Amino acid sequence: MNAQAAPKAQEPKLEPAIIVIFGITGDLSRRYLLPSLYHLMKDNLLHDKTRIVGITRGNMSPKELLDQTKMCGQDNENVCDPKALQQMQANTTIMHMDLINQADYIELHKQLDDIESKEGVCMNRLYYLSIPPQVYTPVIRLLDEAGLNTSCQHGRAMTRLLVEKPFGFSLSSAEELIATTEHVFREEQVFRIDHYLAKETVQNILTFRFRNPIFESLWDRHHIASITINAYQKIGIEGRAVFYEPLGALRDFIQSHLLQILAIVTMDRPKEFTSEQIHLSKQALMRHIEPIPADQVGKRTRRGQYEGYREEVNNQHSTTETYAEIKVFINNSRWQNVPIYLSTGKALSERKTEVCIDFYGKEGEMMNRLRFRIQPNEGIELDLLTKRPGFRDEVNQTAMDFSYQHDFENHGHPDAYERVLVDAVRGDHTLFATSEEVLASWRVIQPALDEWSKRNDDLFFYERGATDIEASSQL
Ligand code: BG6
Repeated sequence: MNAQAAPKAQEPKLEPAIIVIFGITGDLSRRYLLPSLYHLMKDNLLHDKTRIVGITRGNMSPKELLDQTKMCGQDNENVCDPKALQQMQANTTIMHMDLINQADYIELHKQLDDIESKEGVCMNRLYYLSIPPQVYTPVIRLLDEAGLNTSCQHGRAMTRLLVEKPFGFSLSSAEELIATTEHVFREEQVFRIDHYLAKETVQNILTFRFRNPIFESLWDRHHIASITINAYQKIGIEGRAVFYEPLGALRDFIQSHLLQILAIVTMDRPKEFTSEQIHLSKQALMRHIEPIPADQVGKRTRRGQYEGYREEVNNQHSTTETYAEIKVFINNSRWQNVPIYLSTGKALSERKTEVCIDFYGKEGEMMNRLRFRIQPNEGIELDLLTKRPGFRDEVNQTAMDFSYQHDFENHGHPDAYERVLVDAVRGDHTLFATSEEVLASWRVIQPALDEWSKRNDDLFFYERGATDIEASSQL
């Protein structure tokens, strides 16, 4: 079926909001947030009364910032619409602030109040922490002390906190961060961003699983032999040494994106498709992912570093992994003993994120494989065995292929960050990680982090653009 005629997705109707971006001149903001906000404004998806307040230590006007940001690099035309750009500039103010100076938070409070009185409405306030995670805790405390966790009209306009991963660097620091945050903001005010959850193809896993009854009855250990989730990138760390060096691939990608995707692939059907029930189902599943036992870390994990990484981060002794792979199991009746492989790496030969579900086949025969192509070439394919034409009884492996590009040619889907911003403004938590999910995924990888910190003789090195890492895996 060609779905080109499908009705356009319902467009959000949002309330007035002030989006306060801490770290507006940083990499994340320039790469994702500002272009997404521009596109939302251009497509008229935000309320007219949406204002951006950018916090930075430096000195820069909104015009300078927008001029220096590649706002439309992803667009075909590669050129911005001047009117929309002008509108965005007019709606943005920049405030110079020292993140650890309390007086500056009082000034911020005043500025937000001024915007509201000028606009004559109460506005949702969103604090987007696009700053190094090491300063989350002091910033959250200072927001609290300055009374910034309030809005002008209780019950209607809402104050929300948006945080970027990593949520902590370990299980214990994640627990601390969650405790500090809980002290200031209620869980429903906190939006922990995992932009992979907002990717259209990841959301489609839920629809595919629960709207196609033919697969639901096959979704268990009796029919599925293994699950593999890979996220490979062609790019390296792209100058983000300060961000990446304390993290590494296991914390950066597996703790968040890949374990979240795994939960969506394996959770039970939620009682209802509401944010609350989806999270309950995910949480129940994540509690059953077995933390890798300390004495199995050698056998169930692999880590590597691309050549040239140490020069990039200026640390000849760095043991930070830019490639990581783990094998885990889910200890519940549905998934007992099904091996699950999660791997991710930077500076590899291609950009490819996919989920592969391998069904049991007859001994020695090819298998049915279901593949969710998260990116690029987004789609879903199912390998089927069919007869090759001719006199002989030969079997052929053929793919039934659904491709976004083919089926939804004229139906552009929102970028993940556009979706994240819209959902946070309208207060929809479905695509954000709860504190319990965050802690559950730290629990899974913590033994590996502990064991890796004791030794590094297992760290292997690979060439930039390597193709054979996955194939050489023995896990
Ligand atoms: C981020 C990671 O969460 O995702 C980065 O911190 C990574 O290291 C990025 O490059 C990849 O996102 P995407 O959407 O480009 O695949």
